[in-house]
Amino acid sequence: MNYRHSYHAGSFTDVVKHVILTALITSISRKDSSFCYIDTHAGTGYYDLFSEFAKKTREYEGGIEKIIQQENPPPLVKDYLDCVHKINNQLTGAKFASLRYYPGSPMIARYLARPHDRIIACELQPQEYQALKTAFAGDKQVAVHHTDGFLGLKAFLPPRERRGIVLIDPPYENPDEFTRIARSLPTAIKRWSTGIYAIWYPIKEKNQVDRFYRILKETIALPIFSIELTIYPDLPNHLNGCGMVIFNPPWQFDALIKKTLPWLWKSLTINGQGSYQANLIK
Ligand SMILES: C[S@@+](CC[C@H](N)C(=O)[O-])C[C@H]1O[C@@H](n2cnc3c(N)ncnc32)[C@H](O)[C@@H]1O
Repeated sequence: MNYRHSYHAGSFTDVVKHVILTALITSISRKDSSFCYIDTHAGTGYYDLFSEFAKKTREYEGGIEKIIQQENPPPLVKDYLDCVHKINNQLTGAKFASLRYYPGSPMIARYLARPHDRIIACELQPQEYQALKTAFAGDKQVAVHHTDGFLGLKAFLPPRERRGIVLIDPPYENPDEFTRIARSLPTAIKRWSTGIYAIWYPIKEKNQVDRFYRILKETIALPIFSIELTIYPDLPNHLNGCGMVIFNPPWQFDALIKKTLPWLWKSLTINGQGSYQANLIK
């Protein structure tokens, strides 16, 4: 396991993933009843953009730094940016701190959660796990586990809540990661059929993504809500964009995402390259 998310924190793919996550959580929060958020590959909770890791790639310059500079972002992006501001204000103690820290998925979920909601976060890499544990130390709403995310799916599903979200966001270090996800999902969905499942994926090779969708269609009977955003044309073996597959999307999520994606793409694209789409595949 060589992957460290600190190199990629706040990148354009993080922005896309976290705006979608914000949309899922704000949509599910329209109802009062509690939800459980399960993050199978949680990372460290937050990232220092001044660290040696982040400075080496400067990926945040093409992501959060672009977004934070935009005037009048759409309401969904404002909700997401609130989380970014919160982590900076919290860690620096300033009321209007400038951008230095970037919240990861479990921290975004934590900021959006209400007092009766619950978060379960799994992380396997020992140092990342320690950092995650420290980030949520003493927080009774968050349970942090040093475990394989796919084993976590078996161990923590179904939670006691009827409603909730599972985010599956592995590093895709191994070429078989797509297959592992597709194999784990049917059992997970069977165990907790009312849960929302969101799976992030990189768009590098079109064939790989097409194959992923083929396996998902073969093994899961539910419609797939598919979101993709690319900022480069179809360059071979290059991170052109990313996508999210969602099973059981919440009510009104579709409209919220479709309203926000054009703005997001316009803000992130390199010279108008790439494209975006969001649709339900039956
Ligand atoms: C893409 S990063 C997660 C980023 C995080 N979800 C976010 O959006 O802020 C993937 C994480 O999975 C961890 N990881 C790798 N293999 C894992 C496994 N089998 N189970 C759980 N975590 C794993 C990595 O150490 C890394 O922190």
